[in-house]
Amino acid sequence: MVFYYSGCGNSKYIAQCIAEALDDKLVFIPEAQRNGAFEYTLAENETLGFVYPIYSWRPPHLVDEFVNQLIINGKPSYIWTAVTCGDNVGETEKLFRKSLENKGLELNGAYCFKMPNTYVNMMGMSVDKPEVADQKIAKAKEKLPKVIELIKNHAEFSDMIKGALPRFKSNVIGKNFWKWASDKPFFANESCISCGICEKVCPVKNITMESGRPKWNGHCNTCDACYHHCPKHAIQYGKKTRGKGQYFFKD
Ligand SMILES: Cc1cc2nc3c(=O)[nH]c(=O)nc-3n(C[C@H](O)[C@H](O)[C@H](O)COP(=O)(O)O)c2cc1C
Repeated sequence: MVFYYSGCGNSKYIAQCIAEALDDKLVFIPEAQRNGAFEYTLAENETLGFVYPIYSWRPPHLVDEFVNQLIINGKPSYIWTAVTCGDNVGETEKLFRKSLENKGLELNGAYCFKMPNTYVNMMGMSVDKPEVADQKIAKAKEKLPKVIELIKNHAEFSDMIKGALPRFKSNVIGKNFWKWASDKPFFANESCISCGICEKVCPVKNITMESGRPKWNGHCNTCDACYHHCPKHAIQYGKKTRGKGQYFFKD
């Protein structure tokens, strides 16, 4: 079984490729949470996988919450995680290992894929230049068969790009990131054509269309899917996204 979360498609792509190669079932975490689907019974020798993007050098809060709520009946034969990041992941592996341990589960393999950056809500943070984004995707595609082999072989492995000052980034900056992140600065400017794509792509259903305009309802997961998918580039995050580009995974 492969549990995954994705805002802009990078992690979805990785999850889909691995699940397909393993002939495994995919479970989209936000949907499972909406449906209250927290209990899963594993078949004999079944493996467990978790795929998600890195948010502020940690697993997204939503993923942590889901793992905390999970009830797994049966013993997985192998547990792996594959994360996607723009640059580096800090101490994500250690943190995720701990979350699983709290549920009596042991992480066996951890792998990260560098993919195009999606975080634009902060000064100085923007999408990658198209050639950089293309290179990252090409390298990730090259790595995928190797990771799939490792998972198939139930290898004990760790291949995470921690980056500089991982403990500081994950535990000082990252720890409270989701609490500071707010959807209040989001707005749609006059280019909005009321198409409703933002409402549709929001993984946590935080957007409703009111009088033809998106309204953010305060339980945003800061994935920026609404910003990146807007066909008119009408969605902005206060002044922080002014002049910045858009990106979402297209294959
Ligand atoms: C809120 C937020 C925080 C992020 N923090 C990090 C980070 O700490 N390190 C990093 O390398 N990339 C970071 N990124 C980039 C994403 O991890 C990366 O682009 C990921 O592949 C997006 O996956 P998705 O398309 O499945 O949503 C962040 C992106 C967002 C939206």
